[in-house]
Amino acid sequence: MTVRPITLSETGMVVPLSSGQSYFNYCWLRDACPSSIDPQTHERVFDVTSLPDLPRARAARIEGDALLVDWADEDLISHIPLDKLKAYGGPSRKDDPANIPRRLWYAGFTPNIVHVSQEAVLTDPEMRAHLTRALLEDGIAIVTDMARDSESLSRLARAIGPITPSAEGNFFDVRVEIEPTNLAFTAGPLEMHTDLPGEDTAPGVQFLHCLENTVEGGLSLFLDGAAVADALRKEDPDAFRMLADFDIPFFYRHDNWDYRAHQRVIETDPEGNVTGVTISQHLQDDMDLPQDVLDRYYPAFIKFIRMMKEDRFLCRFRSQAGNCIIFDNHRIVHGREGYVAESGKRHLRGCYTDRGALRSTYRVLAQRGYSGLTSKAHEMARA
Ligand SMILES: [Fe+2]
Repeated sequence: MTVRPITLSETGMVVPLSSGQSYFNYCWLRDACPSSIDPQTHERVFDVTSLPDLPRARAARIEGDALLVDWADEDLISHIPLDKLKAYGGPSRKDDPANIPRRLWYAGFTPNIVHVSQEAVLTDPEMRAHLTRALLEDGIAIVTDMARDSESLSRLARAIGPITPSAEGNFFDVRVEIEPTNLAFTAGPLEMHTDLPGEDTAPGVQFLHCLENTVEGGLSLFLDGAAVADALRKEDPDAFRMLADFDIPFFYRHDNWDYRAHQRVIETDPEGNVTGVTISQHLQDDMDLPQDVLDRYYPAFIKFIRMMKEDRFLCRFRSQAGNCIIFDNHRIVHGREGYVAESGKRHLRGCYTDRGALRSTYRVLAQRGYSGLTSKAHEMARA
């Protein structure tokens, strides 16, 4: 038995771990007691507020691979695995297999977009991991050889997450309509945008299944909004701050719905890293920032939108019938060139799932040993 000194204080204790001395708060340690967690559901069954006072240790020692804590006001000794303490003892958050750094991309990226066949996504967990990993890293991937039946898109989407409905329902069709509810449903050009910014939380992952495309023109346009935001930060930090600090109004209105939400055009995490963008001039409502703030906001906004039209960021390609493009709707900005409606048929069917579902799917695959990084995955994706 190894006995190592532990220092107790009023609020917690300093535990000598192999990674160094680490301080742990008593409430955290009491919550971390394995008896606090239901062994079947893994949900917390201990209520720290049920104790009359904040928990406090009477004594503590390390035995084998566990920290033993003898609680002052309870008839309980907790056995807390040292591995758990090591996972939380440092300054960073617990390891998350889905926390994969974004790989920013620019014009010319088209040949590098990961392609996986629908059959492989549905039947091979390593290929499903390869696809979901690409969506986390690159924000875009293409599924090829989609089956032609009416459930095809639904099967693919559900392999990644539950379908998130929008005002249009579970699915939407992008083709020329007689009475369009959206410019997407015309043959005109479609400016660069992210979908449904008028919703409180716009859907995180978008699927666009190309069923038919024989028209002249109508090339699909994609860019990495996080790459443009990153470039704006380097080239004009003040403009970047305006778009990251202030939110502006968006809408989605029709006879039977009236969605409104304020969004930041550039979304950052607490560390200041760009995590996404929201842009849609056609669904942007009247700006309601104070007019003197708009004196600074509009130049930044215009600069950012102009950057999104620059060739250095844009990928332009024809959507192929039988392919489904999947992309992060909070990061990848998409648009379309106009086309000649009479020249043929163009029909895309779309749906959404959310970012949380995508990360969940990748985590479960990673925990089962499918990283999406094997050479087989890379070879199959190139084939
Ligand atoms: Fe769209």
